[in-house]
Amino acid sequence: MTSQTPNQGTGPGPITPDGCAVDYYAQLTPMGEPEIVHAAIPAGASILELGAGAGRITRPLLAFGHEVVAVDESPEMLAHIEGAETVCSPIETLALERVFDVVLLMSFVIDVADEEMCRAFLRTCRRHVADSGAVLLQRKPAEWHDSIEPFEKDAGGGRVARMIEINRPEPDILAATMEYVVGDRRWTHHFVSRRRDDARLAELLGEAGLEMAGFLTGDREWVRALPRRPS
Ligand SMILES: C[S@@+](CC[C@H](N)C(=O)[O-])C[C@H]1O[C@@H](n2cnc3c(N)ncnc32)[C@H](O)[C@@H]1O
Repeated sequence: MTSQTPNQGTGPGPITPDGCAVDYYAQLTPMGEPEIVHAAIPAGASILELGAGAGRITRPLLAFGHEVVAVDESPEMLAHIEGAETVCSPIETLALERVFDVVLLMSFVIDVADEEMCRAFLRTCRRHVADSGAVLLQRKPAEWHDSIEPFEKDAGGGRVARMIEINRPEPDILAATMEYVVGDRRWTHHFVSRRRDDARLAELLGEAGLEMAGFLTGDREWVRALPRRPS
């Protein structure tokens, strides 16, 4: 997702190029994601966290004993992170001169509508993962795209999250708007997401030199991919 995508956001404070409200994400707490990641990787594994935002997941991963390098294209997001090296960069062009035990790309960033951007994200993952390492992705399974309808949920701490609008302008494309309300503050986030079934994701991983190695959760939201071994 870059500024050229139709993703956009409104509300108080800085908004990232992909439409996320920094002040909203800075106050969110983890909801089990760090435990899923930590349980899936070796103790002390080094992690490259792509799209780290304000460090909601970075902090607990550091507390679990991982070295984390946090990447985001938003300096305002990264300003909230302490204790980890931060790199302000688009994911798609990231080229650090090192590899990591684990590359983490969560928060459904991989569901970007633009196929070329998706390919570029996966190439970045491959470029930065050790041959013996793993790439962990959090994506929406195809059935989520097929069945999602407007909803409202209590996001904890007095926060309300609503999906207020859904359109399906093309097959496999979902355009939705989220509304987040905290007290008298209100943000919206319009995003576009592409439905990719497991076979399609495996194909794109293959193009990037990765292979699908299974799922971390029963809902198939969390994917493990490994560097493809030479045949
Ligand atoms: C939905 S937020 C999630 C942040 C964090 N992973 C979390 O769970 O709290 C997505 C983050 O990814 C970043 N992001 C999205 N597309 C990006 C790109 N192409 N390059 C760099 N950062 C990107 C945004 O700036 C934002 O901070």
